[in-house]
Amino acid sequence: MRTQVGIIGAGPAGLLLSHLLHLQGIESVVLERHTREYIEQRIRAGVLEQGSVDLLNQSGLGARLQAQGLVHEGIDLLFGGRRHRIDFRALTGRAVTVYGQQEVVKDIIAARLAAGGRILFEVSDVSLENFGEQAAGLAKIRFRHNGETAQIECDTIAGCDGFHGVSRSAIPAGVIRQFERTYPFAWLGILAQAAPAAHELIYAQHQRGFALFSMRSPQITRLYLQCKPSEDLTQWSDERIWNELHTRLETDDGWKLNEGPILQKGVTPMRSFVAEPMQYGKLFLAGDAAHIVPPTGAKGMNAALADVKVLAAALTAHYQAGRDDLLQAYSATCLRHVWRKEHFSWWMTSMLHRLDDESGFQYRMQRSELEYVVGSRAASSVLAENYVGMALP
Ligand code: APR
Ligand code: PHB
Repeated sequence: MRTQVGIIGAGPAGLLLSHLLHLQGIESVVLERHTREYIEQRIRAGVLEQGSVDLLNQSGLGARLQAQGLVHEGIDLLFGGRRHRIDFRALTGRAVTVYGQQEVVKDIIAARLAAGGRILFEVSDVSLENFGEQAAGLAKIRFRHNGETAQIECDTIAGCDGFHGVSRSAIPAGVIRQFERTYPFAWLGILAQAAPAAHELIYAQHQRGFALFSMRSPQITRLYLQCKPSEDLTQWSDERIWNELHTRLETDDGWKLNEGPILQKGVTPMRSFVAEPMQYGKLFLAGDAAHIVPPTGAKGMNAALADVKVLAAALTAHYQAGRDDLLQAYSATCLRHVWRKEHFSWWMTSMLHRLDDESGFQYRMQRSELEYVVGSRAASSVLAENYVGMALP
C-alpha cells in the first residue's frame, strides 16, 4: 500500500488529521489496533475549548456537536461549603462545550468513511521503519491485519497512538527528552443515569479530597472522586461512592446531586508528561503520544486537536507550496500550546487536590489561592482564559 501520510492511531488526533488532510486533497491511511465499536464506546474526556469547537465546525464536523453539545459559559469552584462561579463569558467572551470524546470520534469516523477514507481497525504488530533523520526513500509501516502481514509506504508517519503506543518508543534513545511528573493520587470516575443537578461543572476542594461534578447529556451525570492510584474498585460499593460524593460536594445553599444507576466505574491515573521534540525525521508525534496532562484542566483532547491542526497546515504547505518551514517548526509550534496546557493542568491539580500535608500548611495555601482566584478579577481571568483556551499566535 502506498499513501502520502501513514497515521497510527484512531483517537481524536489521528482521525482529525486524516480528515483535515483529506480536505486539502492529501491521502492518508489510519491504522487502529481496536475495533470501531470499542473506540466509539470508550468513555474519555468531555470538554471542548472554543477553538476546538471552531475547528470541528470549520472542517464540516459540527452537525451533531451543534445539536447535542452543551455550551457552558462558566464553572463553579466549591470550597468551604460555598460555590463560587467563574464567568467565562464575562471574563473572556468565550465558552466551552461539553461533548464526549467518543462522540467526536464517531463523527470523524463517519465523515472519513463517507468520503472513502481508509481506516484499518484491529491491526496488530505495528512497527515503523526507514523514518529516521538519515533515511532515504519512503518511510514504512509494517503491521498485521486480517491474519496477514502488510505494509504501508508513505512520505510521512503521524504517531497518534496515545501514551502507550509504538511511535514514540520507535525513536532512538537519546533523541527525545522526556519530562514527567506523576501524582500520588488518581480519580475514581462514574457515569450515572441521572439528570445533572446543575448546569455547569463544579470543581470541589475538600479535606477528604477533590471531587468533580460533570455531565454528558441532560440525562447523564459524570462524577469523579480523588482516590489512591492503586484504588481497589471492589471496595467501592455504589452506596459508598454516592456517600462520598455527597460529602465532598455538599454546599451551604442546599444544592444536592441527583443519584441514579451507575453505568460505568473506572480509575483514571494522573500524570504530566511531555516528549521533546515532537518530531524525528519523517515521524511526527501528536496528542497523547507526545504529551499527557492530568484531567483537572480538561485539556487532553484539546491539546491533541491543536497539534493536528498545526500538522495538517504544515503538510498542506509541503504538498501544495513545496514549503517545509512549517514542518520544520512543527515541534516548536506545538510545544508552546502544550506547555501552556501542561502548566494550567498542573496548577489546577495542585490547587484542588488533597496533598500530603501533616501540618495543614498546604491546605491553607490552597484555600488562600482559591479565595484569591474567586475574589480577584485578574486572578479569575487567569483561570478563565486558560480554561476556554488561549489563542496562541
Ligand atoms: N497500533 C495501532 N493503534 C494503536 C497502537 C498501536 N500500536 N497503540 C495505540 N493505538 C491506538 C489506541 O487504540 C487509540 O485508539 O491509538 C489511539 C490513540 O488515541 P487516544 O489515546 O485517544 O489519543 P489521542 O488521539 O492523542 O487523543 C488524546 O485521549 O486520553 C485521552 O485525555 C486524552 O482526551 C485526550 C485524548
Ligand atoms: C469530564 O466530564 O469527563 C471532565 C470534565 C472536566 C474535567 C475532566 C473531566 O476537568
